[in-house]
Amino acid sequence: MKKDIFNDPNIKFPAYIPWISKEDKKNVSKALEQTMLTLGPQLEKFESDFCKYTKSKYAIAVSNCTAALHLSLMALGIKKNDEVIIPDLTFVADANAILACNAKPVVVDINKDDYFMSITNLKKNITKKTKAIIPVHIYGQVCNLDEILKIANENDLKVIEDCAHAIGTFYNSKHVGTFGNSGCFSFYPTKNITTAEGGMIITNSKKMAEKLRQLRSHGMSRSLKSRYSSGYPWVFEITEPGYNYRLDEIRAALGISQLKRITKINELRKKAALYYHTKLQNIPGIILPDMVKTKNHSYHLYTIKVRKPFKLSRNQLYKKLKGEGIRTTVYWMPIHLYSAYKEFCKLSNVKNSSTTYNEILALPLFPNIEKKYQDKVIKCIKKFDE
Ligand SMILES: Cc1ncc(COP(=O)(O)O)c(C=O)c1O
Repeated sequence: MKKDIFNDPNIKFPAYIPWISKEDKKNVSKALEQTMLTLGPQLEKFESDFCKYTKSKYAIAVSNCTAALHLSLMALGIKKNDEVIIPDLTFVADANAILACNAKPVVVDINKDDYFMSITNLKKNITKKTKAIIPVHIYGQVCNLDEILKIANENDLKVIEDCAHAIGTFYNSKHVGTFGNSGCFSFYPTKNITTAEGGMIITNSKKMAEKLRQLRSHGMSRSLKSRYSSGYPWVFEITEPGYNYRLDEIRAALGISQLKRITKINELRKKAALYYHTKLQNIPGIILPDMVKTKNHSYHLYTIKVRKPFKLSRNQLYKKLKGEGIRTTVYWMPIHLYSAYKEFCKLSNVKNSSTTYNEILALPLFPNIEKKYQDKVIKCIKKFDE
């Protein structure tokens, strides 16, 4: 077993270990020999492989998923004073991307028994200013897409799917991210595939893809290749200023070889998740994730809920497991608890997310996790209830 990511000698069982294979290293070394280190052949291949895997028409690689969300909002015309609806239990990147457009995040509650945006709450929060919804395929599970798409359709709203956890998550045989206007993926080190930092946007709209490509590279009207193949390379138009949100060739090369293993990676994750699932059954107060509804899960996280009559609270269990050298964590503090976002949250909108937040705990899960390591986690959870 590799060491903890922080080299903490007390942690014998890390929460995740990135899987970097020999092939990955070979691909990265080869890319380092190119003279073109950005906007080159690796990027083109990574994007085209991603299109093939997700069966989307266009894929635009970017520097991270937050950039993917920000550019998607920009490309869909989200601007000052527009409102965009997000669930309270999500990563702050969703809210940050909305604020980066000077728009207003409208934070709504989740359901009591799952992690998805409450439809009642969503409907209540639609106003004349609402322009888009960001549903989150949290932990790798398909969210309540049908209902959200229906409401979006009825109210003429754009949908940006947050697929940060969901590479390999399919719904009705279609990859998530292909249902809304765009889908945004993360390749952060904990994710199912990693480029260290990195992200991808998929869309089936040619117009949106073209806009996204421009915005990813400062808003330039011409690609690097076309600038150097005809006319003067320094002559290009900027109709709307963009950013430098590019993914370089080295990280794209890593992405290509990681993506080749995605089926294997997700199978191993599934095996490990199902092992927890079988072994942790019937512990009063330990609520396991619903694995029946989640057939097409990417198994990004295995999150349990801890509540009475279990003898320990979630925080106590976290501390006890840490004491045994096991790293666990919580995804995430809800948006309404951050001071920067308080003004966007009505207390009536966050009841279920508050309860859920106090109960959730993600157990260590990664493709090559050893059974004996999982046995230790399982044994400890059972022992602490005695
Ligand atoms: C649900 C969700 N959305 C967005 C992001 C942002 O991803 P990135 O770190 O690639 O910007 C994350 C990152 O963990 C996430 O979990």
